[in-house]
Amino acid sequence: MFFEHQEYQTRCQKLLAQMADNSAALIPAASLVTRSRDTEYTFRQDSDFHYLCGFPEPNAWLVISNKDGCPSPMLICQEKDEQAEIWHGRRYGPEKAEQSFAVEQAFGLDDIEELLEEVLNGLDSIYFAQGHNAEADELVFSLLESLRNAPKQKRTAPSSIIDLRPLLHEMRLFKSEAEIAVMQKAADISVEAHIRAMNHAAPGIFEYQLEAEILHQFAYHGARSAAYNSIVGAGENACILHYTENTDKLNDGDLVLIDAGAEYQGYAADITRTFPVSGRFSEPQKILYQLVLDAQLAALNVIKPGVTLKAATDVAIEVITQGLIDLGILNGTLEENIKEQTYRAYFMHGLGHWLGLDVHDVGSYQHKGSERPLEPGMVLTVEPGIYISASSSVDDQWKRIGIRIEDNILITEQGYKNLTEKAPKSIEAIEALMSGNTSSDAKVVKDVSAAV
Ligand code: GLY
Ligand code: MN
Ligand code: MN
Repeated sequence: MFFEHQEYQTRCQKLLAQMADNSAALIPAASLVTRSRDTEYTFRQDSDFHYLCGFPEPNAWLVISNKDGCPSPMLICQEKDEQAEIWHGRRYGPEKAEQSFAVEQAFGLDDIEELLEEVLNGLDSIYFAQGHNAEADELVFSLLESLRNAPKQKRTAPSSIIDLRPLLHEMRLFKSEAEIAVMQKAADISVEAHIRAMNHAAPGIFEYQLEAEILHQFAYHGARSAAYNSIVGAGENACILHYTENTDKLNDGDLVLIDAGAEYQGYAADITRTFPVSGRFSEPQKILYQLVLDAQLAALNVIKPGVTLKAATDVAIEVITQGLIDLGILNGTLEENIKEQTYRAYFMHGLGHWLGLDVHDVGSYQHKGSERPLEPGMVLTVEPGIYISASSSVDDQWKRIGIRIEDNILITEQGYKNLTEKAPKSIEAIEALMSGNTSSDAKVVKDVSAAV
């Protein structure tokens, strides 16, 4: 259980309030996935299931229903099993699950087909995320088929299957106070990890060694998984947007881009910082870095309720495009370059995305056919970048430089709160923090509060 029962009860009530009469929502837990032979990838709970009940095991189902006589929420989970628990770990079992989680009743998985068929029988509609989980699809479709084939036994299948995701994902887009507190914790752990990486950077160490510092900080503070594969790209590697090999050596004179965020109690942080391996920016690096930072600050400056992500994106594009024209990297007028989208050769991704249980979180970016205005309670990233690879047709001084600066932004009534503001990002703050770096094995995590 991650939140108070009340938090989950509120979520389930909110969902029920939007559901048709005589219907049920069926939400399967995630399954274990084989990594090799008899070992599995670290289990991660399905985000929708986690959101509605917080139950942490695989092989489970949550049913939320307004059908007469149907317990709701109803959890179906693995039975207790002494042998299985000796080998694979503890299980709650239905009895303890019912006491520990915000569910009305819990049942054992052994009876799942009978239980679910009984729920489905006589319903008008079900809410279900078809295509999301193949095993779950198979079970639900076979139960529906079995009901359809039993009219003489006076059993009836629901006639409509409604996609649960639009309802649920709209709810997930707006974070509660309790969720914001957990996201702040994920952000804080991730900020410290980036500071630790800055403290350990030095020519001669490998990208994977900085990744190790990041992961150490995550795990040590209770975030046992990263929210996504960490990107540690030095020099030219910083120009590969989803570079995750992290195998190369850091060279003096290069920048290193780290995009890494912790997952804490299911919630993601997503921070990028770019800094010099040696602790001092070269002149061309400084110029491009300040341009990305100016673009981010300009975008943040317009972010508040009522403004769209597209409007903030346009502000960042304008700053970057004008900056690239001023440097001679782009030619022509601002208007022409924006119209032709020439900046996309160097800033080829969006400005940001929703953030929550998933790093690229759910929720529609459109509202009634147009760009959606930001509202209090939404959390998004703001992450402009400039990437100039060795093969670009520009002056050599700009080549092999990839820069992204990414923060996690909560929309508030007044404007926004930057959840990751403590990660140093001005040139002065980064250089001050890294000024004590002397060698790869003599790093101490310093107090950076003065440098931020
Ligand atoms: N780390 C993935 C992203 O920034 O979107
Ligand atoms: Mn990122
Ligand atoms: Mn991101």
